[in-house]
Amino acid sequence: MVVTQAITLITQNQKMRQIISQIDKIVESDGSILLIGETGVGKELFAEYIHRSSLRSDQPFVKVGLSALPTDLLASELFGHEKGAFTGASNGKKGLFELADRGSIFLDDIDDFPYDLQSKLLRVLESREIMHVGGETSIPIDVRLITACKIDLKELVNRGLFRSDLYYRINVIPIHIPPLRERRDDIPLLVNYYLERYSPSKKISISDKALRILVNYGWPGNVRELRNIVQRLALFSGEVIEADDLPPEILEDDLAAQVLKSCKSCLTNENMPLEQIVSCLESNLLVQAMEQSGGNKSRAAKILQINLSTFRDKLKKYNIEKQDGK
Ligand SMILES: Nc1ncnc2c1ncn2[C@@H]1O[C@H](COP(=O)(O)OP(=O)(O)OP(=O)(O)O)[C@@H](O)[C@H]1O
Ligand SMILES: [Mg+2]
Repeated sequence: MVVTQAITLITQNQKMRQIISQIDKIVESDGSILLIGETGVGKELFAEYIHRSSLRSDQPFVKVGLSALPTDLLASELFGHEKGAFTGASNGKKGLFELADRGSIFLDDIDDFPYDLQSKLLRVLESREIMHVGGETSIPIDVRLITACKIDLKELVNRGLFRSDLYYRINVIPIHIPPLRERRDDIPLLVNYYLERYSPSKKISISDKALRILVNYGWPGNVRELRNIVQRLALFSGEVIEADDLPPEILEDDLAAQVLKSCKSCLTNENMPLEQIVSCLESNLLVQAMEQSGGNKSRAAKILQINLSTFRDKLKKYNIEKQDGK
């Protein structure tokens, strides 16, 4: 766990530790940083961590969500405007770059930055000066630029959608934050961290089976998805989180993965008759559902979305051993 002025970064992963030590080495640098990673991997958290651990930490940190800002307002939001610069500009306004002066500015979703404004942003970064929309004087600014994107910006450059000169200017220090499925050793740590955080008054633990399922899950929404799921579990579970307390999308995913593993040979055997393949898949689904539900037939039937009597009939048909439970 790494804590910097109220920023808590939970990780034990080797790759993530390398990223953190890389950041800790550049605290004195003002080089522009580009954070690259899928949704929910922690880009914003890292941007804040970078600012807080830099020499600018007691100066402003201004976050700008570019995808949420309408294009026609962007220039005046970023660089400010003079009174009367456009219809509705009844007062002059400082821009976000000015508000970030001496601190850091975080431009999130930089790939959404409109092409027409890119040369203006480049000019600001190179000259370290801004000019209000409708203004005539240059104002010096001193900001550290941190940007983030979910996709490969180089690809946009190759397709002519992003200026290459701006790309090289913002990509001085690229940092790739790996998705959660590439650092599964962080999953138990994060689960326990959020369990404690969202249920500080009651001690909740998680069974080995439930944790194994969470560790194997693909986490397309990364840490944000994990946080939301654990928050719900902390609210609605008893003292111990069991496998069948997990949300259906995770259970189905696990069921499919386990069945694929067990049916590997039947699915790849070209000579096996269809009927036999179907039987193999079906019986394995039953076994895995029983496994997930801890032998409880009603829960297992619910996981498979079939009614209990059909489930019992199928267990009989495949002669799947009797387990206790209802
Ligand atoms: N290593 C971590 N330790 C603790 N919390 C984390 C970690 N990584 C991410 N989080 C938490 O996960 C959530 C999502 O992180 P964040 O908003 O930084 O992701 P993002 O990469 O900016 O996502 P998006 O691309 O969707 O904007 C936040 O609540 C953040 O605090
Ligand atoms: Mg973000």
